[in-house]
Amino acid sequence: MIGRLNHVAIAVPDLEAAMEQYRGALGAKVGAPQDEPDHGVTVVFIELPNTKIELLYPLGDDSPINGFLDKNPAGGIHHMCYEVEDISAARDQLLQSGARVLGSGEPKIGAHGKPVLFLHPKDFQGCLIELEQV
Ligand code: CO
Repeated sequence: MIGRLNHVAIAVPDLEAAMEQYRGALGAKVGAPQDEPDHGVTVVFIELPNTKIELLYPLGDDSPINGFLDKNPAGGIHHMCYEVEDISAARDQLLQSGARVLGSGEPKIGAHGKPVLFLHPKDFQGCLIELEQV
């Protein structure tokens, strides 16, 4: 069901420093910060030849990233995003298998303007999974 790895998201405590490190030390193509108020995050996409890295930084006091950074003050991998062709069909199949979908269970529009859903990390080897319809 899942297709390509769309991106790996890393929560960072200092967005400027992380952007500079990826641009400078790692020599990557780093995009401009985008505020995503619906998701409580500021995101920066880094284009790699085979996938993307998404730097996540909290936006607002009730950002879901605040709790993550409290537990991981140096930052860390926050989620993996896999591509699916039909997000509603994927969700229904996963719910039938006993997996939990976070939030209302209805897809939201993600950072790329495409429908996304998140799956409970406790159901997937401790890894928060984002599904994105492509
Ligand atoms: Co993501």
